Amino acid sequence: MFNGAEVTPAGVDQFPLRRPVLPPYQIDALSRDILALKRRLNAVILAHNYQVAEIQDVADVVGDSLGLSQYAARTQADVIVFCGVHFMAETAKILNPDKLVILPDRDAGCSLEESCPADRLAALQATNPNFYTVTYINCSAAVKALSDVICTSGNAVKIVNHSPKDRDLLFVPDENLGGWVMEQTGRPMTLWKGNCYVHVEWTHAALMRIRQAYPGAPVVAHPECPKAVRMLADEVCSTEKMVTWCKATSAKSIVIATEAGMLHRLKRECPDKTFIPAPTDRCACNECRFMKLNTLEKLHDCMVNLAPRVELPRDIIERARRPIERMLEISALPN
Ligand code: 13P
Ligand code: SF4
Repeated sequence: MFNGAEVTPAGVDQFPLRRPVLPPYQIDALSRDILALKRRLNAVILAHNYQVAEIQDVADVVGDSLGLSQYAARTQADVIVFCGVHFMAETAKILNPDKLVILPDRDAGCSLEESCPADRLAALQATNPNFYTVTYINCSAAVKALSDVICTSGNAVKIVNHSPKDRDLLFVPDENLGGWVMEQTGRPMTLWKGNCYVHVEWTHAALMRIRQAYPGAPVVAHPECPKAVRMLADEVCSTEKMVTWCKATSAKSIVIATEAGMLHRLKRECPDKTFIPAPTDRCACNECRFMKLNTLEKLHDCMVNLAPRVELPRDIIERARRPIERMLEISALPN
């Protein structure tokens, strides 16, 4: 395992976790304005499953990283409004270099992205010319540009299964997702030592306690969780597959080990079921501070100002596009 990064992201604590809650009349007024702006701009609003409820409720599409990239690749809209974190909006821009891509808050980063600077990845790649770099989409455009293929949590197993057999796989930047993919595929990989600061908060002990409190409730966990947590889960999957899994199961109560925004999507899709947020050992740790930088007011303002915008150098767009398109092609293959 390559000790490539400081795991704790600098700067996570500078963003406050508590947000002021808007009164319903203000949410209604802002939502109406946002929908009017959307029509005027011929815009599409894409929102990740971790966005606050009021953003999910005005979005055209709510989904996981894979679903949102697939949608971005085929949209006819003139403006893409991306409510997620910065690397997701960047991916939409790479797929649509001639469209305007805006986001509510430019500071919406990701601890995984921070863990893997492009120069350090390039230095590691230089140590083995036989490396084939499989990169989790949670990274910068410059890191994508150094990659052979991109993956998301929704297709990582398939992507690795389609990777050349005669190459040494280097998986960056999430060691937990990479470890889970190795278990699923049996393919050894060199893992970059990055992680999601939210998902590593769940522990074996905390999961054991919630299992004892709700003995009949299955546990669904994101693959960014550590192995000790994944081993206690009945299902490990991407946020979109959580929706499919929860719809299909006969269980009426389900424990969810992922970011708290997911609960709104799940309650909307499965109104007859009860979702129990898996606790961490410390309280209130299951919100991603970066995802939660986006608010309905900032969404409104970015559509009024057409800023902040995602801008990327042309050469990075061209180099980063190839591994993303490879991912989309492999994803479309039959299983
Ligand atoms: P999904 O692709 O499963 O939505 O995950 C994205 C993410 O950032 C998880 O922390
Ligand atoms: Fe990144 Fe974790 Fe936030 Fe997802 S939840 S955007 S992996 S910091």
